[in-house]
Amino acid sequence: MQERIAQLRRQLQLAGHHYHVLDEPLIPDAEYDRLFRELQSLESTHPELITADSPTQRVGAQPMAAFSSVAHKVPMLSIHTETDISPEGAIQFDTRVRKVLQLSTDDPPLEYVAELKFDGLAISLIYKDHVLVQACTRGDGQTGEDVTHNIRTIGQIPLRLPDTAPAALEVRGEVYMRRDDFESLNERQRQRIAQGAKHEKTFVNPRNAAAGAVRQLDPKIAAQRPLSFFAYALHFHASPEVTFSAVEATLNGLQAYETHYHVLMCLKAWGFPVSEHCQRVMGSQGLIAYHQQIAHDRDQLPFDIDGVVYKVNHIALQQRLGMVSREPRWAVAHKYPAQEEFTTVQAIEVQVGRTGKLTPVAKLAPVFVGGVTVTNATLHNEDEARRKDVRVGDTVVVRRAGDVIPEVVSVVLEKRTHAGPVFTMPRTCPVCASPAVREDGEADYRCTGGLFCSAQRKQAFLHFAQRRAVEIDALGEKLVDQLVDAGLVHTLPDLYRLTREQLIALDRMAEKSANNLLDSLEKSKQTTLPRFIFGLGIRHVGEATAKDLAKHFGSLDALMDASKEQLLTVNDVGPVVANSLRMFFDQAHHREVVQQLRECGVHWEESAPGARLDLPLSGHTYVITGTLPTLSREQAQALLEQAGAKVAGSVSKKTTALIAGEAAGSKLDKAMALGIPVLDEAGLLALTQSP
Ligand code: IVH
Repeated sequence: MQERIAQLRRQLQLAGHHYHVLDEPLIPDAEYDRLFRELQSLESTHPELITADSPTQRVGAQPMAAFSSVAHKVPMLSIHTETDISPEGAIQFDTRVRKVLQLSTDDPPLEYVAELKFDGLAISLIYKDHVLVQACTRGDGQTGEDVTHNIRTIGQIPLRLPDTAPAALEVRGEVYMRRDDFESLNERQRQRIAQGAKHEKTFVNPRNAAAGAVRQLDPKIAAQRPLSFFAYALHFHASPEVTFSAVEATLNGLQAYETHYHVLMCLKAWGFPVSEHCQRVMGSQGLIAYHQQIAHDRDQLPFDIDGVVYKVNHIALQQRLGMVSREPRWAVAHKYPAQEEFTTVQAIEVQVGRTGKLTPVAKLAPVFVGGVTVTNATLHNEDEARRKDVRVGDTVVVRRAGDVIPEVVSVVLEKRTHAGPVFTMPRTCPVCASPAVREDGEADYRCTGGLFCSAQRKQAFLHFAQRRAVEIDALGEKLVDQLVDAGLVHTLPDLYRLTREQLIALDRMAEKSANNLLDSLEKSKQTTLPRFIFGLGIRHVGEATAKDLAKHFGSLDALMDASKEQLLTVNDVGPVVANSLRMFFDQAHHREVVQQLRECGVHWEESAPGARLDLPLSGHTYVITGTLPTLSREQAQALLEQAGAKVAGSVSKKTTALIAGEAAGSKLDKAMALGIPVLDEAGLLALTQSP
């Protein structure tokens, strides 16, 4: 029994490492769950065999009354921030280091390790006999808080180290939250608030959300907050393996490791996540190049950074450099423009989306944030705008990170000099004056004007023209604005009735652009049924549903005439989608639009109705996420569909398997949680290749 328990723990630990750290699941989720349950049941009959490093102990601890404080064996230092934020700031650091080391200009360049400066919170992890026994926050650098129960819930942090690692050590690193995890956490929170949850709130930024989760008194709640970890430092304390002389003690046993880079590679080999952006570089020129490279890549990273960190690579040199005023002389932080800045609100406008959704948007005094100038920031919805209580004239904190839409994070109340009116959502559409309504349990108000509303119409044209719909290349946002505002187009078929003369008469429209638009309109006429259905912009009918509908009904007329009951027999079509389809096609003007588009020459091939039930993957549904090594997402989708499978946009209980590539995010988590098998590209190819 003890042997079986040990074996299960080893298997689960290995599978967990592959899943959480390497992003390459080793065994199907269902198999993981089986092993996990077996271990759980063995442990429940023999509680005396439960150990702190058992995979079952990641959650399960009782809420704590408060955190106890822990004195750090080695103080947790801060890093000096370089004042010159231009890339050349790196020269200042290199010059200081060389001066202390008494190097002359004839000496060769120094070797550095350049790393990302993760925007999370520093955590110290203590391992004894290879087992994680304590995790604590930085606190004031001398004393931190014991947050072991919460840290244990982070799948990326090993609970047990392999035998190749020293038995006793301290690992330090950063706990952070990925941007996509942060967005979905906040979306969940907004939904909860809309449904009346009293004590819920949205989080200001990923760092605050991560810090809140780490300092949660209930580990069960911490476990629901998606946290990640990067290791960046290693320390040894007095322990049986390391015998310290007085001098060695000051080196913290690190003399066994010649370089910081070697330390990072060891941490990685022992199962800790180490950022792939850690790089060895030579001299100030190497640092400058790294700084520029990361500035360029910053928006594409899946998490926030506030800068980069440069560290002298050789530990012996680090020791010679020592520290001044609690900051090591061998490291420096070099920051980028902040992702949060102050500015003032000049107006609050309400924008109308394609489905009529009204979004309050703060018009801002231009501010440089996250590397671009921002003049608009979303307030999401009425509840959020009210909770933050943003008013015209207010000084606010704006956040822009990655390609996420800029948002107002909070109001600086101390700077409020007058009290402008509280924001209220208009009860009529600001564009077409139709009533705006908010349904029970929904967070958003919607304009009820439909295509009568010019704002919705503009969005409808853009939706119809997008690449995944009928694809009218030359039709962009500015052109749509012009065409609608000039009254040249009211409904989709009007696009195909535009003449060269009308177009050339428009402001700033040259003959060439007019021809371009006419050409791409002509090209768009040859389309496919799924693209056409998707392009109509029926609420709740996304690309995947449009494909299902096309396959099921075979022709547009069959779809338009289908009863609600018939619609409900389609794969993945529930009452909400069925209702939305019926409401759409029950309106005479929508049928008229379809009829006129056909008369204008828009056409597609229709097929015999009914899904093909004779293909190898008929009746199976797959979801694709992340980047596959060789196939594009479209190619992967085509392979699956040719084999008769359906490709859906989100993971549900009905999903057959998830195809996951690199940088898979929340879909992978969901599949894991639901016990849905995960395949990689090789698995996909094996599946779709006919025998
Ligand atoms: S090294 C002596 N490396 O920055 C150096 N710190 O001001 C000890 N941080 O609170 C830290 N990314 O949380 C180091 N790659 C990185 C880092 C990093 C972020 C944070 C750390 C600490 C602060 C130091």
